[in-house]
Amino acid sequence: MEQLGIGMIGSKFMGRAHANAWSSAPHFFDLPIQPTMGVVAARDAEDLATFAPRWGWQRWTTEWHDLVDDTAVDLVDVTTPNDVHAEQAIAALEAGKHVACEKPLAGTLADARRMAAAAAASPARTFVWYSYRRVPALGLAHRMIAEGRLGRLYHVRAAYLQGWGGPQTPRIWRFDAARAGSGALGDLGAHIVDMARFLTGEEIVEVSGAIEQRFIDQRPLPDDPTRFAPSTVDDAIVFYGHLEGGAIASFEATRLATGVKNSNRIEIHGELGALSFDFQHMNQLEVFDAIDPGAEQGWTTIQTTHEEHPWMAAWWPDGHGLGYEHTFVNQAADIVRALGGEEPEVPLPDFADALVTQRILEAALISARQRRPVALEEID
Ligand SMILES: NC(=O)c1ccc[n+]([C@@H]2O[C@H](COP(=O)([O-])OP(=O)(O)OC[C@H]3O[C@@H](n4cnc5c(N)ncnc54)[C@H](O)[C@@H]3O)[C@@H](O)[C@H]2O)c1
Repeated sequence: MEQLGIGMIGSKFMGRAHANAWSSAPHFFDLPIQPTMGVVAARDAEDLATFAPRWGWQRWTTEWHDLVDDTAVDLVDVTTPNDVHAEQAIAALEAGKHVACEKPLAGTLADARRMAAAAAASPARTFVWYSYRRVPALGLAHRMIAEGRLGRLYHVRAAYLQGWGGPQTPRIWRFDAARAGSGALGDLGAHIVDMARFLTGEEIVEVSGAIEQRFIDQRPLPDDPTRFAPSTVDDAIVFYGHLEGGAIASFEATRLATGVKNSNRIEIHGELGALSFDFQHMNQLEVFDAIDPGAEQGWTTIQTTHEEHPWMAAWWPDGHGLGYEHTFVNQAADIVRALGGEEPEVPLPDFADALVTQRILEAALISARQRRPVALEEID
């Protein structure tokens, strides 16, 4: 079978999620090409010496350029902080490699534009790990809306709430604007903007009413909690959007929703029905059908583990749920399918698609800082 040599940059949170995905995908899915785990690059040699053999990488390096130059690498998987996505992805594209890059596409709109331009100039394919698209319940929601089951759309209400960012949380790169670009906006807001676009199939044409808030100005250093450094990103952001079909949307992203672990939620209301999802119950989609007789109307909970649900034929018998890591396995499988000439279960975002999401994030920042509505066409 034809092989797809993977080279991955980064070996921590997303590095582990992606290593698991590349190694699991061929076990569970019938794939047209065999992904092989060639080389992993990151900064910490001591960590890599353990990480690489544990996850099945053939070799490791602290020089990420090595894998861009490696003729056995066909796809470069970028799981590094946002400030280095552009440099690494563009070098890989210029070397003729396919690139699968973590989200947000970049920390800044300028970097994202350069990445999308490099992708457009290359015959290679690009992918962005907006991994929540590959939750079966959300794949089902995408299909139902595409079939017109909700009719005309009125409301999108999206919130991504986490509560880990209190004053005791160290100043890791995620609180450094130079490395992350933004805080809750690019980290969590990017996911719900992508999700709103993916589920509705509509573009956001205007952003307004944004509030960007930093609650914690100084954070303890990771290696010395007695010393502090400035946090330079937003801890929370809220904003509104107009969709091209006339629906209105609200977005809230925060790392300071005390008591909430990881609630990525979205509700969509249309003239024929409504859908509701919360990642804290990721194997369920709530559906309301307004066409049912009045006396029988009500919310239905669909357990999305049936073999007819997206990706589920590859997994377990009905009733046996999936977890966070499966979304990455589903995406790895869909990337390999796409490169093998097959259709992914639902659309995969590429750099051009992720640039649109990045423009919406930029519009939210401008709306917050200039206190005004921002038409997307202002941001080319
Ligand atoms: N899809 C999702 O749901 C999701 C979840 C978490 C993070 N992310 C994204 O994944 C990316 C990485 O986040 P993370 O949480 O894994 O970060 P992390 O801090 O846990 O890991 C970063 C890794 O990158 C390596 N690295 C840093 N700078 C490097 C450089 N210049 N060259 C080579 N390697 C370098 C580090 O050694 C480390 O292995 C970010 O873009 C983040 O937004 C996405």
